[in-house]
Amino acid sequence: MKILVIGSGAREHTLVWKLAQSPRTSEIYTAPGNAGTALIARNLPISADDIESLATAVRENSVDLVVVGPEGPLAAGIVDRFQALGIPVFGPSKRATEIESSKVFAKELMSRYGIPCGRSVTFSDSGEARKYVEQQSPPVVIKADGLAAGKGVVVAESIPQALETLSDFMESKKLGASGDRVIIEEHLTGREMSVFVFTDGEAVVPLAYACDYKRVYDGDRGPNTGGMGSYTPPPFLTHGLADTVQESIMKPTVSALAQEGRPYQGVLYGGLMVTDEGLKVIEFNARMGDPEAQVVLPLLKTDLVDLILAVIEGRLDRMDVECHQVACIGVVMASGGYPGSYQTGFPITGLDDLDEDILVFHAGTKQGERPGEVLTSGGRVLTVVARGDTIARAREKVYANISRIHFDGCHYRTDIALLEE
Ligand code: AMP
Ligand code: GLY
Repeated sequence: MKILVIGSGAREHTLVWKLAQSPRTSEIYTAPGNAGTALIARNLPISADDIESLATAVRENSVDLVVVGPEGPLAAGIVDRFQALGIPVFGPSKRATEIESSKVFAKELMSRYGIPCGRSVTFSDSGEARKYVEQQSPPVVIKADGLAAGKGVVVAESIPQALETLSDFMESKKLGASGDRVIIEEHLTGREMSVFVFTDGEAVVPLAYACDYKRVYDGDRGPNTGGMGSYTPPPFLTHGLADTVQESIMKPTVSALAQEGRPYQGVLYGGLMVTDEGLKVIEFNARMGDPEAQVVLPLLKTDLVDLILAVIEGRLDRMDVECHQVACIGVVMASGGYPGSYQTGFPITGLDDLDEDILVFHAGTKQGERPGEVLTSGGRVLTVVARGDTIARAREKVYANISRIHFDGCHYRTDIALLEE
């Protein structure tokens, strides 16, 4: 099969790497891809959001299967459009993607079907939202309704900060229409984890559980980022907890979406908090996580193309997902200044000096002029991934290798998967 992966991050590089291992795969394309995907796939210079040009490329290259990485094109309806054109495509429809692209819709769905989440109130009037916030005690969690590339959730530590956030979202429209409505949610405390399932709209098959790190600096300090690292499995995950996640959250959510006439096909991502009062949903996403995909897919034993086809053809109930029962850690190397402004175009060295079992997935990279030269071209540049029998072993390996990679200004967290026992 000829497969096209849409997107350009380390998640997409990981998808390309995994799909390339399938005996069913004959050729892989990426749009637009990066210097890492260029090593194993053909990069097409088309933006992930340019749905019509992507459709043309699919026809011109006789692509048999399209895999969508990021949420943008899903929310814009790429799956609906490709299905109408008869192109096999992996990902949820526009209406099913609303579980991610409208936090208000997700909240309403959870409340209608009794799926546990934090208590919240929705506002479309900034005056009313301000009045409500003034009666709360901090921290106050404020969420913009729409997609915001990780900038739509603020955990305000004071009432003035909460009011400023409301003003940014609802009055200055810093996130555009995404801030037309906001959710003000109770602050939850506990352990966070991400869970991924494959679903064809009926059957739900767990893929993996992972933890990610959103803050830029060690010790969870500094601003939020797209994700600075992740690891699997979460040390607090018991069989009992995994069962509860599936039975009380993932399966009911998939069946709720089907009952609402929005059958969900693809990978569903649950961002969960294990609180003293039980499990609560923080958010759903309509795709794999980044950087979680980078640690989850390397452990997948089952052929990914088989799984994807089973989802598209509605026969997932006959599939099992098998994973290697080891630990896996991914550490993101970022450009100096990220998540604020940063410079690009620096050569990356050391990539050919790594232990054999280390994986490097590219994000913001591009090929240089000289053969083999790789330059930085974005905020998050690489995810370096190591597997090990234990989290501690994987951690040792990943950091031993990361210290051999260099580019000007590079920074990364040194405490990924550093577990307090
Ligand atoms: P999101 O962008 O929706 O993934 O949210 C970003 C981060 O905000 C989450 O990973 C949580 O750490 C935090 N967060 C979201 N909702 C809550 C909540 N109700 N209570 C505490 N923290 C939250
Ligand atoms: N790792 C968080 C996300 O992909 O949204």
